[in-house]
Amino acid sequence: MTGVLVTGGTGKTGSALVDLLRGNGVRVRVASRNPSADDPDAVRFDWDDPATHPAALRGMDRVFLVPPINAVDPMPLVGPFLAEAQRLGVRRVVLLGSAIVLPNAPGALELAERVRARPGWVVLRASGFMQNFLRPHPLGERIRRHGEIRTAAGAGRLGWIDARDIAAAASALLIDPDVDAGDQRDYLLTGPKALGYGDAAAIITARTGPPIRVLHIGADELAGTYRAAGMPGEFADALAAVEDGIKAGREDLVSTAVLDLTGRPPRPFAEFVQDHATEWANHGLPEC
Ligand SMILES: NC(=O)c1ccc[n+]([C@@H]2O[C@H](COP(=O)([O-])OP(=O)(O)OC[C@H]3O[C@@H](n4cnc5c(N)ncnc54)[C@H](OP(=O)(O)O)[C@@H]3O)[C@@H](O)[C@H]2O)c1
Repeated sequence: MTGVLVTGGTGKTGSALVDLLRGNGVRVRVASRNPSADDPDAVRFDWDDPATHPAALRGMDRVFLVPPINAVDPMPLVGPFLAEAQRLGVRRVVLLGSAIVLPNAPGALELAERVRARPGWVVLRASGFMQNFLRPHPLGERIRRHGEIRTAAGAGRLGWIDARDIAAAASALLIDPDVDAGDQRDYLLTGPKALGYGDAAAIITARTGPPIRVLHIGADELAGTYRAAGMPGEFADALAAVEDGIKAGREDLVSTAVLDLTGRPPRPFAEFVQDHATEWANHGLPEC
């Protein structure tokens, strides 16, 4: 038996990947903590419950790996999972990693290094998701409730990418485990153009109505906003500190990897906004 284990399989990237793989006739196993009773391919998989890991892996020769969300150090949970994957002969792991490295979080780099070290296993270093501008991400929540973006990134820019394009790039690497990933074990995935929060706010405003204000605050205050939204304290601090790097221009990067892998250019931010315009309608106004 062969197929692709899609961890985070009900999330933004994982669910789009599942659709693409199924559309290409690839068998999938959809892993999450809350598997759908209506999906015969859904399995319960919980990073915090290692007993669920071997059963999810068994019979699968490829894995899309979404590491534990909001964890500063994923290695204690993902390390043993990868050892089991290796033992079972998994031929390809595609790690959904991040272009932005959280400060004081060497575990994420260690995980990427571990994946890259194995022939046929690859790392996707994804830029910021365009979907962060939608609920339930704290950024999207604030836009919806208050019609504003709070940022510590100044006019710094980021190569925002649509999660659907990450899924497309992953599917290109997962459809056929024999497809030659060559010597390339690491792909920086971005959208077509780097944008600051002010640019993004202007594009959303142009298509959805009332202006979205951009308030410039410090990283400490931003961390407080993330904590208030329910993020674990250490992770909230690290995520907010990332904005200092954006401000300094360190994340102002775009790549051709989506086009190279899929044959199609990544979606521009304006197209993403068009596709989700109703989700920002009446932002800043109380909901009925
Ligand atoms: N947002 C960004 O800008 C950005 C940028 C680069 C990289 N990333 C990375 O992208 C990943 C998130 O991808 P996404 O946005 O597509 O996911 P998502 O929409 O946030 O969905 C999370 C998925 O993971 C599952 N999940 C959550 N906690 C779990 C646990 N303890 N054990 C097993 N499964 C669990 C969820 O299902 P259940 O809740 O049912 O378990 C769901 O399927 C993160 O690792 C993040 O670091 C994000």
